[in-house]
Amino acid sequence: MAESDTVPSGIDVSVPNVARIYDYLLGGKDNFAADRESAALALRAVPQMRSLALENRRFLNRAVRFCTEAGVRQFIDVGAGLPTQDNVHQVAQRADPDARVVYADNDAVVVSHGRALLAEDRQTAVIRGDLLAPEELLDNPELRALIDLDQPVVLLLVALLHFIPVESGPDACVARLRDAVAPGSYLVVSHSEVAPEHAVGTTPLSEETRLLGQAYNRPMGPVRSRAEIAEFFGDWEVLEPGVTEVWNWRPETESFVSPSSIVSMVGAVGRKR
Ligand SMILES: C[S@@+](CC[C@H](N)C(=O)[O-])C[C@H]1O[C@@H](n2cnc3c(N)ncnc32)[C@H](O)[C@@H]1O
Repeated sequence: MAESDTVPSGIDVSVPNVARIYDYLLGGKDNFAADRESAALALRAVPQMRSLALENRRFLNRAVRFCTEAGVRQFIDVGAGLPTQDNVHQVAQRADPDARVVYADNDAVVVSHGRALLAEDRQTAVIRGDLLAPEELLDNPELRALIDLDQPVVLLLVALLHFIPVESGPDACVARLRDAVAPGSYLVVSHSEVAPEHAVGTTPLSEETRLLGQAYNRPMGPVRSRAEIAEFFGDWEVLEPGVTEVWNWRPETESFVSPSSIVSMVGAVGRKR
């Protein structure tokens, strides 16, 4: 986005923003100088950051296709990010033009861009919603107009939970969403995985960890083990191959990522019994 473009009111573009850094890494245009500077720092720390972002999107798309093949036609994408190529509704509506998708994000820029892009599509809504306020999210009238919670739903929490500290209580919020949906629903999660020697709290702090903290203007998110990530699925069945590198989740093509990365991206899909 050129600096002269209209900026939604109340948005401080001098502060880097997670959604816009990610947009830049994916080759998008909805970002500002501060976001690109942060992305440059992140790329210095983790040169594979761009391919991790791309592999995360590819996982998201495979998981959405998997769920459409299983017959589910309703999607709630929390922490949806800025519109990019092959967004959830495009992938899902390829399987069935009547598929319904609600994108939720707690970032005003994401919501205003999403609305502008999707204004024509009556099966898709973009709402301001916070994972940490699940009741409000579930009660949102736009969500309720599109999603029938008595029928199976795909919940997407993709590249979101690693931004949410343990003390904010994401576990209980994810549990609330799991409880709200019908049997036969799916949960799709991806999460960063940090090599132990680069975890926050390690002394001395590695240069990469310091740079990443600076890039995102906060310490690197909570370091969760694969077992802890699996706990987000509660008593749901975590489908094969379990929590694994996103590029190893039911892959269809070669991965872009070299395995030496200090940060990896893992994901899984689970089904409510
Ligand atoms: C890295 S982007 C991921 C975008 C997309 N899910 C993907 O994987 O391609 C993370 C998104 O989560 C959003 N986010 C962060 N905390 C959130 C919260 N508590 N509730 C809803 N969205 C949140 C950010 O605004 C950002 O758009």
